[in-house]
Amino acid sequence: MAEQNELPSFPLKTKSIEMIAEGKALKMLPRAKVWKTEDGKVIKEMQFPTTFVGLAQTKADYEYFSKRLGDSVAKSYFVVGEGSNGKPTNLIIQTEIKGRALRDVPDEELKSNQELRDNLIKFFSGCLTMWDEDSRMPDIYGRFANPRATTNIRIEDATNKPYLTDIIASERYFSKNSPLPYRVINQKVIANTRSFIKNLNRQVTY
Ligand SMILES: Nc1ncnc2c1ncn2[C@@H]1O[C@H](COP(=O)(O)OP(=O)(O)O)[C@@H](O)[C@H]1O
Ligand SMILES: [Mg+2]
Repeated sequence: MAEQNELPSFPLKTKSIEMIAEGKALKMLPRAKVWKTEDGKVIKEMQFPTTFVGLAQTKADYEYFSKRLGDSVAKSYFVVGEGSNGKPTNLIIQTEIKGRALRDVPDEELKSNQELRDNLIKFFSGCLTMWDEDSRMPDIYGRFANPRATTNIRIEDATNKPYLTDIIASERYFSKNSPLPYRVINQKVIANTRSFIKNLNRQVTY
């Protein structure tokens, strides 16, 4: 019966829920409102896509990433539920990854923690294979197109495992064939991913 406990109960407006990301964003870059439940689940209210077909596509993208990158992709459930505004809203439900965003892990720690480095090399190498074979990539954008600075990958404290928690990355915007400016940004992110892997291998990390 364990699976029955996987999903939190609805409606979503309860005292047990705390907001952890506000979802403020530029028009072109809709961000989720992210909530945490008392029982260790994270609920993302999606501002886009808003349709059921869009939710199904997001789920298909997630399944593709999971196939490619294995259990480093945070297990996600896709449902249409009630948003905090009381309206029907697409929701993604995940287990809370207790740890830090990759951006917030200091260089010193990357240098001294070989297990974490090995896990990151494996994860990012998987991203490069995906790019080379299928022309696609997950959303590993960070500041200055550097995946080292992404908040979309969280490192679990207890295991040193990286998890891709932001699993939304449509083929339209995250591929070799994306319209400008995304195509150029994607190429930069991939180039920076290659250098990051090299630096991790040499234990130089910035
Ligand atoms: N599974 C998770 N466990 C813990 N924190 C999470 C999880 N998913 C997201 N977060 C937190 O919420 C923030 C926003 O989530 P994300 O999925 O990146 O949405 P968006 O990019 O649309 O804002 C993340 O930077 C992270 O701090
Ligand atoms: Mg994000």
